Amino acid sequence: MKKWLAGLALLTAIVVSGPEPALAEYADVVINNHSDGAGMRPAIFPHWFHRIRFRCKVCHADLGFKFQAGGNNISMLKIIDGEFCGACHNGNIAWSVENCNLCHSGKPNTPTQVHGSTVQRLVTAPPAGTPASPAK
Ligand code: HEC
Ligand code: HEC
Ligand code: HEC
Repeated sequence: MKKWLAGLALLTAIVVSGPEPALAEYADVVINNHSDGAGMRPAIFPHWFHRIRFRCKVCHADLGFKFQAGGNNISMLKIIDGEFCGACHNGNIAWSVENCNLCHSGKPNTPTQVHGSTVQRLVTAPPAGTPASPAK
């Protein structure tokens, strides 16, 4: 029953959200504009995990996240100020910023990217004959 409801909510969100980019594939986003340089592991944003809990609009309209991996110039100061991830990761809606390693869990030196996305692989399909890159 609960699963069914979640499914319905998902469908509704997709239908209601209308002309949002159709190619969103909700894979993990690796965000590494500043982390490596600051001696921190890159941040990982599990898109799908969040997507099933919130509508696109919550983040991409209300919180102002641009639709681009690494495109928001997020910093810890902004997060602590309650912007971006910090709008929820404040110990209230979700666990707070003290849990550094829950976000900074990327492999050092992983560039900013969307990781593990089937749609992305289709869109940026290599020339025929080139083996598809492995999922991991
Ligand atoms: C909890 C917040 C949240 C929700 C909900 C959310 N997103 Fe995102 N989205 C993000 C963040 C964070 C990024 C990465 C931005 C960055 O790296 O600065 C992102 C990146 C993206 C991107 C660019 C990367 C990619 O995957 O190609 C697209 C497109 C996108 N989101 C679409 C959507 C759509 C469509 C929905 C709803 C179906 C959605 N998002 C729901 C937070 C969210
Ligand atoms: C809710 C997720 C989250 C948590 C928790 C978190 N960070 Fe971050 N942090 C980010 C994101 C996203 C960025 C931007 C990453 C990038 O572009 O390299 C970032 C950037 C950084 C940077 C790069 C320089 C700067 O000032 O922005 C440092 C250093 C950093 N975090 C340290 C920490 C430490 C230390 C903690 C724990 C006290 C922590 N972070 C907790 C998400 C988080
Ligand atoms: C709209 C609210 C919202 C925003 C914005 C948001 N998160 Fe979350 N996040 C959540 C909630 C809710 C959870 C689940 C918390 C729990 O299980 O206690 C979560 C969980 C997570 C988890 C753990 C996933 C797992 O598998 O358990 C990570 C990692 C994470 N967030 C990173 C981020 C990063 C990085 C950002 C910013 C780029 C961000 N979040 C922005 C609400 C948000």
